[in-house]
Formats: sequence, C-alpha cells, structure tokens
Amino acid sequence: MDNRAVGIFDSGLGGLTAMKALQELLPEENIVYFGDTGRLPYGAKSREQLRRMAVQDMDLIASYDVKAIIVACGTLSSNAADLLEGYAIPSFGVLRAGVAGMQKLPGTGPLGVIATAASIRSGAFEHALRAACPGREILAVACPDFVPLIESGHGAEDPAVREAVERYCEPLRGADAVLLGCTHYGIIGPAIADYLGEETRLVSASVCGAVQLAQYLIVNGLTGGSGEERLLVSGDAAAFTRAASTFLGRPLAREAEQVPVMAF
Ligand code: DGL
Repeated sequence: MDNRAVGIFDSGLGGLTAMKALQELLPEENIVYFGDTGRLPYGAKSREQLRRMAVQDMDLIASYDVKAIIVACGTLSSNAADLLEGYAIPSFGVLRAGVAGMQKLPGTGPLGVIATAASIRSGAFEHALRAACPGREILAVACPDFVPLIESGHGAEDPAVREAVERYCEPLRGADAVLLGCTHYGIIGPAIADYLGEETRLVSASVCGAVQLAQYLIVNGLTGGSGEERLLVSGDAAAFTRAASTFLGRPLAREAEQVPVMAF
C-alpha cells in the first residue's frame, strides 16, 4: 500500500481522459494533475522545445512526491521518451501504452493513428506500430486543428468539430482500428467514431496508459489513497476548472490552482 499520489500531466485538458480512466479503475488513488495550458498547443512546438518542456513538466510533477506518473501526452511521449524514461519514478507514456493496446487486436487490415503534427512528424507512432504490428498497413495522420477546437470548448457535437473530423479522417475510412495518439482526441471521440463507423475500432492511448499504470500499482501492491485530486495549470485556472468539470461531468472537489508558466 502506498498513499502517495499518482502524477498525470499534459498540455491541457487531454490528460483528463487518462485521469478519468484511472479513477474508474482505481477510484481511491490520489491524483496530482498538471495541465500546461499557458504553453499549449504542444503539437505546434519544435522537437527541441518539446524536449525541454518534457523535462520541465516531469520535474514539476515529480516534485509533488508522486509514486508513479502517466505521461498523458502523445506529443511528449513521441518526442522525448528517452528523457522521460530516464527518471527514477516509474512512468507510463501513452505512445508505448497505446501501441501495446493496438498490438493486442486481431485482424489483418490497415491500422491508423491520429495525433498532433509534432507527434506524426517525429515518426515515433508510425515506427512503433510498424514494429509491433508487422505486415499491417499503417496510416498516420496529423490533425492540427483538433486541440485548438477542444481547448476552446468545442465538443463532439459541434459542426466545426464534425467538419474537421471529416477533413482529417477520410484516409482512415476502412481501417481495422485507429489509435487516438493524442490524449485530447478522446474528448471528441464520439464524432470520430460516428464518422469512421462501427467497423473501425478506436483505441484510446490515454485509457491504455491508465490501464498500464493501474496494473503496475496492483501488481506491486502500491495502490492506496483517499480519492483526492489536485489540478495545477499554468494558464487560466477558473477556465480550466469549468472545462474540466464539463468533461468529467461532475463538479471538482477543489478549484484548479495556478502555477507559473515556465520559460522555454
Ligand atoms: N494532448 C497532447 C497529446 O497527447 C498535446 C496536445 C497539444 O497541446 O497539442 O499529444
């Protein structure tokens, strides 16, 4: 038993999809969440910037005495896995977890991944999927408009979201499965699922990351806590509190707290 918190971080709202999944699996866990809303979108940053930010974010979340971490950001997972995995605190990145989730699926048809521009540009998702699922056609598509739409409050039902989904996801029609390689995308998951239809399975990298971390805690006897959550943001805390509670479908026990924006 270990009552220390689990750390989760992302550029903004996206990592809440991992937090929600973890809370469904292990509701007693205490959570410290960091959303770097003062610096998003990460998907538009250079690899060098992202590698600096990965270390800064990891240092910040590690300073809260967490027992394990979900790197709930595909953009950092795909551009800085080597740096993130160099810490003594066990961490679970959504790239590895999501690809492992895709590897378990049966079938022989094409597999897709959608993620931010910086994630797709890194080639890391494509490379990892090719290695994990040999012989399958891999389709990798960047969806740069999704995160700005989601962060500005557009949900799955919004016509602008539906239009963007059609624009980006057309090449993925007919795929056996599509990995949501950006943690934000689960928030508009129903729009993506409606467009691709029932024959294409959606795999959430966030959910896979939460499952991996939960398994790690269970297997090592490290579960425990009192279900507290603490949300930290580098941007507007009141706006994040509202958006987080809309996504989670419940009020937050405590308002998000503002932390300083870190210099690049
Ligand atoms: N949610 C993040 C990801 O999984 C980053 C989104 C962004 O800030 O561009 O890639």
